[in-house]
Amino acid sequence: MSFLPFFSLETWILLITSICLFAVYGNWTYGIFEKMGIPGPKPVMYFGTLGRHNKVYYVADSECAQKYGKLWGMYEFRRPMLAVMDPDLLKGILVKECFTYFTNRRNFLLNGDLYDSISIAEDDQWRRIRHILSPCFTSGRIKEMFNIMKHHSSKLITHLQPKAQNGDVITMKGFFGPYSMDVIAGCMFSVEMDSSALISHASKLFKFPIALFMFQAFFPALNPLLKFLGFSFFPKKSTNFFKAIVEKMRAERNGRSGQNGQLGHKSDDILQTIVSQVTLFAFGGYETSATTLVFLAYHLARNPEVMKCLQEEIDSTFPDKGPVTYEALMEMEYLDSVVSECMRIHCPVGRLERVAKETVKINGITIPKNMLVMIPIYALHRDPEFWPDPEEFKPDRFSKQNKQRINPYTYLPFGIGPRNCIGMRFALVIVKLALVEVLQNYSLSVCKETEFPLTMHLSSLVEPLNPIKLKLATR
Ligand code: HEM
Repeated sequence: MSFLPFFSLETWILLITSICLFAVYGNWTYGIFEKMGIPGPKPVMYFGTLGRHNKVYYVADSECAQKYGKLWGMYEFRRPMLAVMDPDLLKGILVKECFTYFTNRRNFLLNGDLYDSISIAEDDQWRRIRHILSPCFTSGRIKEMFNIMKHHSSKLITHLQPKAQNGDVITMKGFFGPYSMDVIAGCMFSVEMDSSALISHASKLFKFPIALFMFQAFFPALNPLLKFLGFSFFPKKSTNFFKAIVEKMRAERNGRSGQNGQLGHKSDDILQTIVSQVTLFAFGGYETSATTLVFLAYHLARNPEVMKCLQEEIDSTFPDKGPVTYEALMEMEYLDSVVSECMRIHCPVGRLERVAKETVKINGITIPKNMLVMIPIYALHRDPEFWPDPEEFKPDRFSKQNKQRINPYTYLPFGIGPRNCIGMRFALVIVKLALVEVLQNYSLSVCKETEFPLTMHLSSLVEPLNPIKLKLATR
């Protein structure tokens, strides 16, 4: 046995067995899609299909769609993930069977203090929270918040003024980010706050710690242990920051109403649930709304004829740069087409997901229990079968006449069905108001610092890798 140096035979046997077990474990989950007769890229041990196509996952989805069609199987590390772009199947998953089989997104368990936030909560708990929160986002409530929004949009216009006058190159997110956060904080907390601290903490909630993400993906069975040990994707410092704001608000309100706030454990539970929702709104709403505005500015600067048309609509709706009203804003057709088209090409959320609670057959496809179903909306919005010339920015696709021909399951920037984005209407008002006021006062243009085509960023949201830079001219 001289060819087995250093170790005893027992050690070698142990070593080889361990290597075999390591390899078997790393490949164990693969092969499920072959058995189901569903095509897809070949997985690599432990890493699955990650990086087999483009390293930016939502761009990779587009490449897979071109290669495999409307249904394919992938592996996010070891986890099988069924990608679905077929509109009929999507209707079944997102709408018809939402309450029965596809109520929930996946739950990593490592949610820290956000375990009961609406986006993470499951089944009855989710239904209860959604039922309580839905009235906060009706048109009536949003209309009541319109003045707060207008206060912040006028601040945005004032902040842009010196930049436009000096002809400076502007990093758009630097202006739209604080505006979105100011509006969300103003509407949620009813107070003015320093948006930079809010932005910093909200952004941290979006950045999953890579090492923890990989570890739990390799060894998902250990997630309950990681949870028990206090590991979480969401930094405690940031969730505590939002908790402190809510506690301060509660103390101030109790002070004003003369209550002492001593309701015991029940009050603590309610406070915890409120903190979770508030935190989620701040981090879910801020980045998505700000990114939408940045992409809108980018597309309009690159398409001056569209911008001119939109400015004409704005000027005729609010003559002489008159004050923007909620009702008129909501009725602007071309504005709606421009925003919709921008959210088709660059929808801030690149994927939706649902988990099958039981094995279910929909439209002839059997989806096994616990299968993660992923809806690649970035790819869906670029499918040439539904969207001819998908890379072209053409707001007329969403004109009154053309809109009727769009299959609603091919356009999902806010998701669809009972678990869609609860803040959709609110977000659209935030975005439309800022866009109208910016274009009332300024025209946007590209400059040599404007990147084209955009390099996309490997982040949780659909974002450009490099900040979008433009110029403004006063009108
Ligand atoms: C342009 C801005 C926004 C975009 C593109 C967007 C998009 C989305 C998408 C795609 C989903 C997943 C839907 C699904 O799974 O079917 C979602 C969920 C959600 N969004 Fe938004 N969102 C935006 C703004 C907001 C705002 C401003 C808020 C709140 C203030 C908000 C709160 C939520 C919540 C709470 C959920 C989870 C709903 C649930 O699980 O019941 N979003 N959003």
